[in-house]
Amino acid sequence: MRRKLAAGNWKMNGVHANLDEVAAMNDAAASADCDVLLCVPATLINAIDDAAPNIIAGAQDCHQNTSGAHTGEISADQICDAGAEYVILGHSERRADNGETNKCVREKTNAAWAAGLKAIVCVGETLDQRKSSNTLDIIGGQMAASIPDMATGENLVVAYEPIWAIGTGLTPTTDEIGEVHDFIRIRLEKRFGEGVGRSVRIVYGGSMNPKNVAEISAVSNVDGGLVGGASLKATDFNTIIKALG
Ligand code: PGA
Repeated sequence: MRRKLAAGNWKMNGVHANLDEVAAMNDAAASADCDVLLCVPATLINAIDDAAPNIIAGAQDCHQNTSGAHTGEISADQICDAGAEYVILGHSERRADNGETNKCVREKTNAAWAAGLKAIVCVGETLDQRKSSNTLDIIGGQMAASIPDMATGENLVVAYEPIWAIGTGLTPTTDEIGEVHDFIRIRLEKRFGEGVGRSVRIVYGGSMNPKNVAEISAVSNVDGGLVGGASLKATDFNTIIKALG
């Protein structure tokens, strides 16, 4: 049985003054039957870890190298040292803003695993790709090239995030979500074997909110959510936590 994951992605939002929201989320996480994770800016990882014992702390990126002359970057060991257990890798915003390729995401995932972190590897299509019926090809290609060989149910989460659904209020239909999540599951089983393939969690991200979470999380092979905007406020995120667990 895969345990559901309620993962927040705070993106470039949040300062220590927002920790009262985290305290309120911590109470909901205490009674939840799912894993609750907040992937926050690096400046807050330590504070989440200290202030919210029921919430797992995560980061939103790490460098592919372990150390060295990379001004402004942060290594997997450093986010681990700050208290992170998970790191989001290959988010479409980083692929677009920072030119991250599948190869780069694979290298970062290897670096994260070497540091003992769990990686949430993001895949997703643009609206043009969906309209031209290329969604599954794109997802399959991203998975093959971004996910390294040593994946396990413990060290990997795959996040399906249609780019056109992120921050837009738009979401695919539940049939469309189910089609992609089933496809990801089959690809994982083929590549890593049935045992591993069945144990990796596949979460949905892209305008998940308190209103649509129940419907989306009931879809087959949806093992939770990667939530941006609706993870910033406890009133929203707590509803999502409750729906998932
Ligand atoms: P959103 O973001 O929930 O604000 O659409 C999701 C994400 O980018 O992870």
